[in-house]
Amino acid sequence: MNQVHMPLAPELVSIEKSRRMKTIIEPFKVKSVEPIHMTTRTERERILREAHFNIFQVRAHDVLIDLLTDSGTSAMSANQWAGVMRGDESYACSDSFYRFRDQVRHIFGFEHVIPTHQGRAAERILFSTMCREDHVVPNNTHFDTTRANIEFTGARAVDLVIPEARIPSNYHPFKGNIDLDALRVLIEEESPARIPLIMITITNNSGGGQPVSMRNLREVHELASEYGIPFYIDACRFAENAWFIKNREEGYADASILDICREMFSYADGCTMSAKKDGLANIGGFLCTNDPILARQEQDLLILTEGFPTYGGLAGRDLEAIAIGLGEVLDEDYLRYRIASTRYLGEKISLAGVPIVEPPGGHAIYIDAKSMLPHIPPEQYPGQALVVELFLEAGIRAVEIGSVMFGKIDPETGTETLAPMELVRLAIPRRVYTQSHIDYVVEAILRVHQRREEIHGYQIIEQAPFLRHFTAKFEMVPMASARSSQST
Ligand code: F0G
Repeated sequence: MNQVHMPLAPELVSIEKSRRMKTIIEPFKVKSVEPIHMTTRTERERILREAHFNIFQVRAHDVLIDLLTDSGTSAMSANQWAGVMRGDESYACSDSFYRFRDQVRHIFGFEHVIPTHQGRAAERILFSTMCREDHVVPNNTHFDTTRANIEFTGARAVDLVIPEARIPSNYHPFKGNIDLDALRVLIEEESPARIPLIMITITNNSGGGQPVSMRNLREVHELASEYGIPFYIDACRFAENAWFIKNREEGYADASILDICREMFSYADGCTMSAKKDGLANIGGFLCTNDPILARQEQDLLILTEGFPTYGGLAGRDLEAIAIGLGEVLDEDYLRYRIASTRYLGEKISLAGVPIVEPPGGHAIYIDAKSMLPHIPPEQYPGQALVVELFLEAGIRAVEIGSVMFGKIDPETGTETLAPMELVRLAIPRRVYTQSHIDYVVEAILRVHQRREEIHGYQIIEQAPFLRHFTAKFEMVPMASARSSQST
């Protein structure tokens, strides 16, 4: 592979320079275990055939290491489980709500805190309150549910991430930054009145889990204020973003994670949050704003579909788990381990020649399947082929983020528009897997990489009109056909 190896990420250098032990350990010990069901290759071949080679259709019981998502898959701490017992299940004004609200205010600094059952519910309420047809909402990169909820109101979602982010092998310390010049051009062209809000996603999930710098957040705030446009943060992985700022941005090395978080959110007018990520909880989310009129409208909508404003679709015990999780996620020992373990996976496979989105992000490693499997043309889904091989090889479940997920069939002509990148995401659940699990994943990826030239492409034989990746059925394309299709 023509992978250019960049110097070590600055945070690694600073850790090594310090007097700290070189080995970064999991800063917890195990109190309760969940067995992994082992399978043989023959069993996995049968499981895949029965699932029509669609990894979403494989039962979790048959997965050895599940890297499908880092969302809702965290291991809760003993303290969080204790909080679950303490949960106050009163319908209105429960103690758990006030503990939750005070914790969110303490970290995020917003006045109005509206609990929701998960992130997309916060998005739906925010966008149906603020967006109309003809509106345009810019973001670094919209996550799929964010985009879908904006488009559902008739508004348009526009991605304006910096150009460096579009090249997987490019190194940039803050590859999640929004392109400020492009943002200004968009505001001028569309007129500020048609832009109900500007969003920034930290970290930028759809762009490789890449962080956004404090400077970029500050500059978006300044630009938004200049035009009188509200600025919101999609906060799912806020603590991981804060860790990157502390370790990569000048002036923050001695700041606490809490202070960095407070500064990040001080630039925004509100946020949406999925507590299934950096809330270290298995369900939940919230919506925040400083605008009392907007908060009122949002709470009215909340009552329609989520619940009374002090529980918003969650049980009191969930609010407790989130309140405690939000505190634990700020712990520097936890974040050091978290970011190091993701980087460990990325560096091990990248140094062995596997092309990945550089530098490793906070919550996931993205393999560039198009570069790894150049003999499989994009219309035969190299990402899908790699996902299948990882399961076959070692029972690992990853997810394709490429043309299976984002490709679109024109209903009139039947032609397919392909995605710009063919990636495979390995998302790491928080506090769940140990280093030997990750070593096992590394070994599996390298074995698949060694025999990459033998890997076949796939074709879709059945698909739904939208969100096809969840239910599509696939069939393997014989190798000769893959080669001839590539040469045409
Ligand atoms: N925003 C971002 C950046 C996300 O990554 C997600 C979810 C959401 C919003 C929606 O939150 O799932 O609680 O409704 N991402 C998950 C993932 C599903 O696998 O990346 P939700």
